[in-house]
Amino acid sequence: MTFPKNFLWGGATAANQIEGAYDVDGKGLSVTDITTAGSVKAPRMLTYKLNGEFRKTPGIPGAGLPEGAVGAIDPNEYYPNHVAIDFYHHYKEDIKLFAEMGFKLFRLSIAWTRIFPKGDEAEPNQAGLDFYRKVFEECKKYGIEPLVTISHYEDPLYLSEKYHDWNDRKMIELYEKYATVLFKEYQGLVKYWLTFNEINSTLLMLNLFGNNVTDDAVYQHAYQKLHYQFVASARAVKAAHEIDPNYVVGNMICGIVNYPLTPDPKDILANRHSWEQNLYYCGDVQCKGAYPSFAKRLWAEHNVKLDITDQDLADLAAGKVDLYTFSYYMSNVVTTHDVTDKVEGNFAAGARNPYLNYSEWGWATDPTGLQYYLEIMNDRYQLPMMVVENGLGAVDKIAEDGKIHDDYRIDYLRQHIEAMGKAVDNGVDLIGYTTWGCIDLVSAGTGQMSKRYGFIYVDRDDEGNGSLKRMKKDSFDWYKQVIASNGENL
Ligand code: BG6
Repeated sequence: MTFPKNFLWGGATAANQIEGAYDVDGKGLSVTDITTAGSVKAPRMLTYKLNGEFRKTPGIPGAGLPEGAVGAIDPNEYYPNHVAIDFYHHYKEDIKLFAEMGFKLFRLSIAWTRIFPKGDEAEPNQAGLDFYRKVFEECKKYGIEPLVTISHYEDPLYLSEKYHDWNDRKMIELYEKYATVLFKEYQGLVKYWLTFNEINSTLLMLNLFGNNVTDDAVYQHAYQKLHYQFVASARAVKAAHEIDPNYVVGNMICGIVNYPLTPDPKDILANRHSWEQNLYYCGDVQCKGAYPSFAKRLWAEHNVKLDITDQDLADLAAGKVDLYTFSYYMSNVVTTHDVTDKVEGNFAAGARNPYLNYSEWGWATDPTGLQYYLEIMNDRYQLPMMVVENGLGAVDKIAEDGKIHDDYRIDYLRQHIEAMGKAVDNGVDLIGYTTWGCIDLVSAGTGQMSKRYGFIYVDRDDEGNGSLKRMKKDSFDWYKQVIASNGENL
């Protein structure tokens, strides 16, 4: 198993899950700022005001807030992302720790609302631009390359309400303007960009994870939103290349591997169709610059009629990504048969795979699935690839010796790195790997701090108590040695 010589080892985060300082230095509210904490059983809720009263709703896909409601912060609720791990004030300390592990790449996102607080201002917010400049300069000091997600589940609340969660083509130009500001501002400090985090999650949410949305109006919204995001992404890719030909711009797909439960041909076909809807639909548009042939079937199944112009199609063709990136945590099973042995958890539901073990949150550990996914997508797109999220969310305990012995995390990561190595040996053009939540952060799915992923422990709990002190876990030294040996010493 040999990783390429300049393989980009590192870790990944997202602004809303680490920064905190949600209302500091002119930052506007994002959708995440009105999202409460949840748990493996209770969904996170969006809070809003209607007729002068605070109310809440689970963020049902495509449903948005009720008519007349305005997203609002309820003083009686707890919002874990407001403080998160306060990276905003700890970034120097945190980047120093990443450097100590030998990171070559640090994935982070920019909060749109720090740059354009409402999303449609004429001029960007200087304090927001300054913050990320300081972060990137700090990375540069240690020779760490930033990998910047332009939009990671944190649309400005104002835009989300005004344009009904991307249900208006006005969003395309607002996104393009925001991305262009970033490309101009950080030239020389950043090389790698990702346009939208897990862009396919809009479709995944409809009929994975125990959801079974049948309402055509929800599909109409989902496919239209995606179309506007595809065009926005393509225009950003084009702008990036015009501003700096050295920029490398990638897509980012939530890489959930589905397997057929049985050899019944109906299961095989259902599984293939799930790959088309969940993975290839977005991947094909962003990597090949055009809609795949099966798109017509997907739209027809739900009577979807899209607003697509000739200019949009030309933009898609001109804005193909340079890099295919994805997150990988687990696999799922697809079947047309009734099953009794089911798995449930956060973002997990459906038939249990008897060959795999499941985490406390119901996520199946499946390193072979990562190899399988890499080989399929390498073959399909013939682009350099990065795994930009992978890791084990687990409860960590401070032992009697004052340390955190997270051998379960080391074990998970070791198996996945081995799987990546096998894919590389089989010819996959893999150029980087950033583990998710390299420092403990707020879970996107549940809002918990106790679902920890980091090499670095952060003293903060699910209710917002704790000193925010950072501590190295056992996995810290292990990952350091993995990077130093370029993946040899696992
Ligand atoms: C990915 C997201 O879906 O999975 C991250 O891009 C998220 O933002 C990660 O944190 C892990 O999910 P969770 O629910 O454990 O935070």
